[in-house]
Amino acid sequence: MAAFMLLPCLALSLLCICSALLRWNELKYRMKGLPPGTMGWPVFGETTDFLKLGPCFIKNQRARYGSFFKSHLLGCPTVVSMDPDINRYILMNEGKGLVPGYPQSMLDILGRRNIAAVHGSTHKYMRGALLSLVTPAKLRHQVLPKIDQFMRTHLSDWNRKIVNIQDKTKEMALLSSLKQIAGLECGSMCEEFKQEFFKLVLGTLSLPIDLPGTSYKNGFKARKNIVDMLRRLIQQRRSSSAEEQIQDDMLSQLMGTAENKHQLTDDEIIDQLITILYSGYETVSTTSMMAVKYLHDNPHVLHELRKEHMEIREGKRPEDPITLEEFKSMRFTRAVIFETSRLATIVNGVLRKTTRDMEINGFVIPEGWRIYVYTREINYDPKLYPDPMAFNPWRWLENSLESHNYFLLFGGGTRQCPGKELGIAEICTFLHYFVTRYRWEEVGGDKLMKFPRVEAPNGLHIRVSSYC
Ligand code: HEM
Repeated sequence: MAAFMLLPCLALSLLCICSALLRWNELKYRMKGLPPGTMGWPVFGETTDFLKLGPCFIKNQRARYGSFFKSHLLGCPTVVSMDPDINRYILMNEGKGLVPGYPQSMLDILGRRNIAAVHGSTHKYMRGALLSLVTPAKLRHQVLPKIDQFMRTHLSDWNRKIVNIQDKTKEMALLSSLKQIAGLECGSMCEEFKQEFFKLVLGTLSLPIDLPGTSYKNGFKARKNIVDMLRRLIQQRRSSSAEEQIQDDMLSQLMGTAENKHQLTDDEIIDQLITILYSGYETVSTTSMMAVKYLHDNPHVLHELRKEHMEIREGKRPEDPITLEEFKSMRFTRAVIFETSRLATIVNGVLRKTTRDMEINGFVIPEGWRIYVYTREINYDPKLYPDPMAFNPWRWLENSLESHNYFLLFGGGTRQCPGKELGIAEICTFLHYFVTRYRWEEVGGDKLMKFPRVEAPNGLHIRVSSYC
């Protein structure tokens, strides 16, 4: 009997403690001029709700507080910005103290010289070095031929197989980049690299807990191994003959044996290479996987896409690679890629951090706060994209949506994706060989998660057969 009396008392005390903690945390952040919003629990903030409810959490908060509200997410006081004009302002004004604000684990593991960790003039020359790798001339003579060669082999033996398209596209994104970076072919080094790289990626997405066995610790170890491998590659290049040093790959150019103006140090080259591998990995693989999914679910779109690629193949011999002109002519495929990226929301938004107290939209944002430039909602805005939940690539052909101010699928401002054309070229080439060689159906029963990342927890399995 006494136990029954105790229970309500305990519950009541717990309720009082909880509301006191919540209230205390709200008061802690009650500074003049902050945007409206709630801060949740001490330390944890509203992270659990954010991760559990995802986009619904953000929508609920917007309904209560408007498109610019404060919260406490992933360990940091954060302002969530959903207003397209303010988002543009934030992305365009890094110079005013709105620098990238990615989590510590990501910065630790990707390296001190990785592009998201550097600002000002260092960012400018590192970005310049990256952009010089993907000029139209480089695309024509180096990048496209390598991608073409890689995709032909990667997609060569899928007939009459059940393929986990998630694994295949992940492998594709990494190995294709390795080929472009250093001409590496699938072999023992690639295999070793792959294992370490997968650990590195997991580490960047984990909490920075430096204890044996944690993903962070493993990611950090994987970074060390990857750095060793890349350093060995650089040394091999240096010790080889002058002709062998000049190769038509990204490493050669970054080492300055090509026409690179600002000579990068070895550490900078290594962090650049890791940046290229990392930035293109999830974005390219997930967009490719989701394109396969949407094409499967929308046969009329697949029909149109296949027509575009069959027409390209018609005038060619089987061994002829895709040219720059043909890549540029893939207008419908490009539209399929944008529509996939929009509908699946491959990138929910980007993170910035304030380097000083500043005023935005009439509110004060204190120094060190994160700003989550949340672009997901724009993707489903019916004014920009009528019938927004339909997979309709034609909308990209009819309107010049790609040059629209609110087109942020590849970011915006000074940090806009320098790998956009490279990523699109990879996905276009993948789709080219996939739809001209194969038809496929889903095995079924696979789950797809949409938030915080788009992924199929147990893989996405398709049954593949020859198209001809
Ligand atoms: C479909 C493919 C891709 C998508 C959707 C995508 C998306 C994005 C987005 C949204 C940003 C902005 C990040 C920010 O503002 O903080 C970005 C930046 C970046 N992306 Fe991509 N990306 C893709 C492919 C690639 C590829 C293949 C590379 C390889 C070179 C790459 C390299 C980068 C780099 C280095 C940055 C940072 C730029 C800077 O800080 O100046 N991306 N990307």
